[in-house]
Amino acid sequence: MKAATDPVLEQTSNFLRAVRRQPADHTPIWLMRQAGRYMPEYRAIRARHAMLDVMRTPALAAEVTLQPIEAFDLDAAIIFSDILPPLIGMGLHLEFVAGKGPVIHNPLSEVADIERLATPPAAEIMQPTLDAIKLVVAELTPRGIPLIGFCGAPFTLASYAIEGGGSKNYAKTKALMYTDPQAWDQLMRKLVVVQADYLASQAAAGASALQVFDSWAGLAMGRLDYLRYIQPYNTLLFQEIARAGAPTINFSTGTAAYLDEVATCGGDVIGVDWRIPLDMAWEKIGHDRAIQGNLDPVALLTPWPVLKKRVDDVLRRAAGRPGHIFNLGHGIFPNTPVDNVRRMVDYVHEKTA
Ligand code: CP3
Repeated sequence: MKAATDPVLEQTSNFLRAVRRQPADHTPIWLMRQAGRYMPEYRAIRARHAMLDVMRTPALAAEVTLQPIEAFDLDAAIIFSDILPPLIGMGLHLEFVAGKGPVIHNPLSEVADIERLATPPAAEIMQPTLDAIKLVVAELTPRGIPLIGFCGAPFTLASYAIEGGGSKNYAKTKALMYTDPQAWDQLMRKLVVVQADYLASQAAAGASALQVFDSWAGLAMGRLDYLRYIQPYNTLLFQEIARAGAPTINFSTGTAAYLDEVATCGGDVIGVDWRIPLDMAWEKIGHDRAIQGNLDPVALLTPWPVLKKRVDDVLRRAAGRPGHIFNLGHGIFPNTPVDNVRRMVDYVHEKTA
C-alpha cells in the first residue's frame, strides 16, 4: 500500500511543509479532539446518534470531521473516530458509556485471553473509517487541506484492554508486564500488527499524515520501564508504517523526563504535552525533528488576554524555526468557548505570517 497524497497539496499545505521542516507561510495549527462536544454542531449530531454509530457511518464521520474545518481556519483535519474501535475487531466488547467514557466488558485477565485475540486486517474491521477518509479527502483536497489519520499506540491500547477502561495507576497492566514479559510481548506484537495495517490502510485511503497517540505511556511508566516494555514496540510500529509512505507524528503525554527516548522510537514529528516548555522539549528531541504542541488546553478556558499571553509564550519558544506545528498539549475540553478557538487560530496565523 502506498500513500496517496495529492502532489499539489504536498507542496501547498503549510501543515505538510512544517512536517518536513520546510518554511511555511504561517505556523500551521490544528487541535487534538478538534471535532467534539465543545461544538454545538457536534452535540446536535450526538443527540441523534450514538458515538459508535457516528464512527461507523461514513457520511456522519465525514460530516463531523469537517465541522471544525467549516468553523475555523485550521490547517489540517483529523478523521473522526477513536483509538479504541480496532479492539472490537480483535475480540473486545467496547462500549462508550455516557458520562463515564469507554468501557471494555471482557477485559484481558489471563494469558489465554491474549492468545485468543485476533489480528484481522483493517479492511475487515475498520472499513467504515477508511470509507469516511475517502469522502473527507475528496472534499478537502480541492480546498488545499490535508487529512490526518491516527491510531493508538500499543501500550495505551493494552491499558484499556487490560484495565477494562480508563485507569489511575495502571496496576493490572503493569503487573502483567512485570510478571509475564512473554505474555506482554505477545499482546504488544498483536497490537502492532493491527495498528500498522490500520495506519497503512488510512494512508492508502488518502490520509496525508499519521498520528500515533501514546496518551498514557508517560503517566504510567518511568524511563527504564518505558525502555523495556514500550519503546521496542513503538519502534516496531514506526518501522512498519514508514513503508506506508506518509509522514508520522509521535504523540505522548507525561514523557518529558525521557522525551529523547520517545523520539528514538520514530516519527517525523514529535507531539509534546503541556508539561514541558516547547523550547526545552525541542532541545531534547533534536532540532532535526519537527515538533507539535503544546498549549495547555486549560488556557482555552480563560479570558482572551490570558490565553493570548500563553499562545505568545509557545510561539516565542518555537522562535520561528521551521517545523513547528501549533497544537494543544492534549485534547481540547468540552467546555471550551468556541470564540476562543476561533480567535486563537486566527491569531496564530496573523502573528506568524
Ligand atoms: O481529535 C479528533 O477530533 C478526532 C477524534 C478522536 C476522538 N478520540 C474522539 C472522541 C481522537 C483522535 C480520539 C483519541 C483518543 N480516544 C485518545 C487519545 C487522545 C487523548 O486524548 O489522549 C484516547 C485516550 C481515547 C479514549 C477515549 N475516547 C476516552 C478516554 C473517551 C472518553 C472521555 C471523553 O472525552 O469523553 C473517549 C470518547 C471520545 N472520543 C469522544 C470523542 C469526541 C467523546 C464522545 C462523545 O461524544 O460523548
